[in-house]
Amino acid sequence: MTNRTPIIGGNWKMHTDLESGMQLAGAIVDYVDALTNDDEEQPVNVVVYPPFPYLQAVESITGESSVLCGAQNLWTEEEGAFTGEVSPLMLKDVGVSMVLTGHSERRHVVGESNALVGQKTQRALESGLDVTLCVGETIEQRTEGSTLAVICNQLTEGLESVTAETIKKVVIAYEPVWAIGTGHTASPEDAQSVHASIRAHIASIFTGDIADSIRIQYGGSVKPENAKDLFACPDIDGALVGGASLSADSFNAIIQASL
Ligand code: PGA
Repeated sequence: MTNRTPIIGGNWKMHTDLESGMQLAGAIVDYVDALTNDDEEQPVNVVVYPPFPYLQAVESITGESSVLCGAQNLWTEEEGAFTGEVSPLMLKDVGVSMVLTGHSERRHVVGESNALVGQKTQRALESGLDVTLCVGETIEQRTEGSTLAVICNQLTEGLESVTAETIKKVVIAYEPVWAIGTGHTASPEDAQSVHASIRAHIASIFTGDIADSIRIQYGGSVKPENAKDLFACPDIDGALVGGASLSADSFNAIIQASL
């Protein structure tokens, strides 16, 4: 890693209940606050993404700390007749500062297109939220050799409306679909190679300086046992963690591995 501050996200997906979510948040806050000296810059940024109904309760715990509260999804409009959807303004209202767009489960289970992911990214940024834009290829795409083409398209369309100014509020998460929740993580070499290509593609859309400063997380079966080797790669700036973020012990150990 270079001088980019690592960023570790805990994507709780559709897990936890009110009580266990609050306990989990409390244990993460205690751990992260103990790492951070008031006078120094934070050594790592930590974000948790609870399910929508628990955002406000979790934010009441993270709010006083350096841990950020994020949302797993949002809608493309700020208000209106969109039954079942959640507006970026509502997220901000309850203290959310960051949102995931393009998560693999939104793309492949719900069927979100690159264009919709781009609209959500645009709306989130315009409404004042930071964004973690997730990209990644399926096993079929990897096998047929189209990994980079797929990811470059996801980046180009996902960042379509993003400017040299708003890109500063964006983190990229590279999450190969075949590695998510399967226990099969990408090897550090494979992950590093895709991360370097993502950085090069960002340079081609924006500038080399922007590509140097943007943070690119790896996601897909990250655990305390494999985190250190992944974080040792020069273009890997942290992790987006699913399963292992549901236990404070394993999530905090992954945070520790990034330091
Ligand atoms: P996983 O999920 O760590 O359980 O593989 C990662 C993610 O989906 O963000």
